[in-house]
Amino acid sequence: MHSFHYNNGSLHCENVPVSEIVSQNGTPLFVYSAQTFRERFKALDSALADLNHEVAYAVKANSNQSILKLLIELGSGFDVVSGGELYRVIKAGGDPSKCTFAGVGKTKEEITFALENGIYSINAESEEEAVFINQIASELNLKAPIAFRVNPNVDAKTHKYISTGKSENKFGIDFDRIDEVYQKASQLENLELRGLQMHIGSQLTSVTPFIEAVEKVAPLAARLKEQYGIEFFSIGGGIGIEYQDALASGSESWWTDSEKTNLPLTPERYAESLIPLLKDLDLKILIEPGRFIAGNAGILLTKCLYEKRGTSKIFKIVDSGMHQLIRPALYEGYHQIVPVTESSHETEVVDVVGPICESGDFFCQNREIPVFSSGDIVALMSAGAYGMTMASTYNTHPLPAEVLVDDTNFKIIRKRQSYDDLISHEDL
Ligand SMILES: Cc1ncc(COP(=O)(O)O)c(C=O)c1O
Repeated sequence: MHSFHYNNGSLHCENVPVSEIVSQNGTPLFVYSAQTFRERFKALDSALADLNHEVAYAVKANSNQSILKLLIELGSGFDVVSGGELYRVIKAGGDPSKCTFAGVGKTKEEITFALENGIYSINAESEEEAVFINQIASELNLKAPIAFRVNPNVDAKTHKYISTGKSENKFGIDFDRIDEVYQKASQLENLELRGLQMHIGSQLTSVTPFIEAVEKVAPLAARLKEQYGIEFFSIGGGIGIEYQDALASGSESWWTDSEKTNLPLTPERYAESLIPLLKDLDLKILIEPGRFIAGNAGILLTKCLYEKRGTSKIFKIVDSGMHQLIRPALYEGYHQIVPVTESSHETEVVDVVGPICESGDFFCQNREIPVFSSGDIVALMSAGAYGMTMASTYNTHPLPAEVLVDDTNFKIIRKRQSYDDLISHEDL
């Protein structure tokens, strides 16, 4: 099965020409490969087969209900960070008892919603939050299953905006204080101490920081199991993906061995490094991958509106921008840019920029890419994670549509917003 590749000069998603999807649905448009989602999930799940484990997909990466449904069918659990994400999972047919609820700022309404729906664990990030959960649980006359997120103070060696496991980050409880925090929480009557969680950052391209964090935190998990009978240890998400060269060449399969070795961190390497450190704990091990499952499974299609030749630069102005894929503006994220129809093999050095009134609205700067002109459609590769979920309607642009391809079929899984949708919640 192919996901994104050229066939006779025409970019395909699996077995569908992308130009056909665009001619029916216009741009800007997210297109996803169902098979890539499945293959990524299964690759991780089977690499961890020797471990009592559960893959809890991080919904924030891509939360379209059709994507969630596809993962539910594979037996995935979910890590949610808001009441809204939990609502999406439930509406897609997911089971809250396979969901964990993360995040530093949960509200009373969100905690109540999660508890009433039988969440597997609320992962608390402060002592005050635990006291608050206890109070809500007491009002609801139940015991709230919780874990604490520990901040192991390990450098994930990723961009500083997506590094979460250092003591200067807002996330989790300091490693040095965590025993004391569990001890205090164990006195609270309406809490059940069910697990321990950590997440050191995103887009990790080496297994070394994972090893460092697990080596540091596993003895704590063992201690908590003995003292409080916790049943799970979540080691978070964070497995990085290929952004630089994200396109299968020729008619080669996307998920071939060559593509696997192209990945900065393969599921096999991740599993073989971590399983020996986790197996003897005899706890259920959760992982929370988002980007690894969704990132390479999607592209963003955009049309070139104008070309502008300045004194020092060539600008290609396209109909999508930072409002629909904010990664380049937010944390210097790289997305390969390729034409949907290959015309020549010429390249030029350009800035690809969007319509938004911000100088930070660019997809690339001074990058040598294939030549394209006004009217041409280009694809931003690896846009399946943290693309649509971070999109906004800034400058009052409607949100793009989303399409899911499965082999030779495709369907719209989210309609393009209309102007009426945009203003529908406002009163004059
Ligand atoms: C608690 C938690 N788990 C999992 C993830 C998913 O990370 P990734 O998409 O890098 O796998 C995140 C991302 O921010 C997170 O905050």
